[in-house]
Amino acid sequence: MEIADVLSSYKNELEQIESCLERYVTSDIKLIPDVAGHLIDSGGKRIRPLLHLISSRLCGYTGGARFPLAAAIEFIHTATLLHDDVIDEALVRRGKPSANIVWGNAVSVLVGDFLYSKAFNLLSETGDLRLIQLMSKMTNIMSEGEVFQLMKCGDTGLTEEEYFSIVEKKTAVLISAACESGAVMGQAEENATEALKQYGYNIGMAFQIADDTLDYMATEEDFGKSIGKDLEEGKMTLPLIYTLAHCSRADRQMVKSAVDKKELTPEVIKDIFALIDKSGGIDYSLQRAENFIRKAKKELRIFDDERREKKQLLSVADYILSRKI
Ligand code: IPE
Ligand code: IPE
Ligand code: MG
Ligand code: MG
Repeated sequence: MEIADVLSSYKNELEQIESCLERYVTSDIKLIPDVAGHLIDSGGKRIRPLLHLISSRLCGYTGGARFPLAAAIEFIHTATLLHDDVIDEALVRRGKPSANIVWGNAVSVLVGDFLYSKAFNLLSETGDLRLIQLMSKMTNIMSEGEVFQLMKCGDTGLTEEEYFSIVEKKTAVLISAACESGAVMGQAEENATEALKQYGYNIGMAFQIADDTLDYMATEEDFGKSIGKDLEEGKMTLPLIYTLAHCSRADRQMVKSAVDKKELTPEVIKDIFALIDKSGGIDYSLQRAENFIRKAKKELRIFDDERREKKQLLSVADYILSRKI
């Protein structure tokens, strides 16, 4: 099953989520829908809402509460992107000038806060304390991940273990919660809830590793954001962490000194790209992502192979490795 088939199976539901996103972003303060709409209407992949829909259906829930809930999840994601682009001093997002460039940092942070609080407002309307606890715990971990990442920016001594901890916190827990919340909606048994939570966690890990690898190998046109941005900011990600652990002492010194002195000119960046490629940093990272995908798929073993939703989740897992955007 291809990802396009999965998307077309959920076309109606995804449209309902789009209407929710549009509806709940309205405000008398016109700047809010202007800024939020700039990002929301520019074509995100909606992978988290999709995962919520598949998981809910797998657990037998097809009611109307899925839509505001999936919208809340996408709002949390959108808020983190607005904040992330301020921190990363991004120039482009989803192929368009990012909100921080168009409106400035202060506006981006405040509209991000609006979306965060709107998400929790929508969650509270479900009246389901378990969901609110799940989501609030998750966003708290995300914030810890962002702060930890910021603390470690420019630290060429970042270990793989620390990197994986950042990835888990800033990305995997949200994708995991998108799946787990579907199981909660369907009042699934404990083992099914746990399986979906673990599936989401593992594809979430792979998703960020793939994103970090694409930062070294995609084209801006496909990716919709600048290439080489992580390195330029001094953000240590898996391709570089692996390279630093396996290259010659002289090469390591070259990278370390460029990052320490913040002398990441286009020429230096080009040299580091070549070094990563030569050292196998890209292949290694893709392999690690593949391992997480394999684990994710195994987590679904408790569900019947004939279930359509299981096939859809397997297809989403494969898509994460093949994506270029
Ligand atoms: C980008 O997420 C941030 C990461 C966690 C890597 P997505 O790649 O899901 O972004 P959109 O929503 O499709 O633009
Ligand atoms: C994504 O990290 C983390 C978030 C949770 C927003 P990145 O910094 O890699 O995301 P992009 O590459 O800007 O989308
Ligand atoms: Mg970023
Ligand atoms: Mg990135």
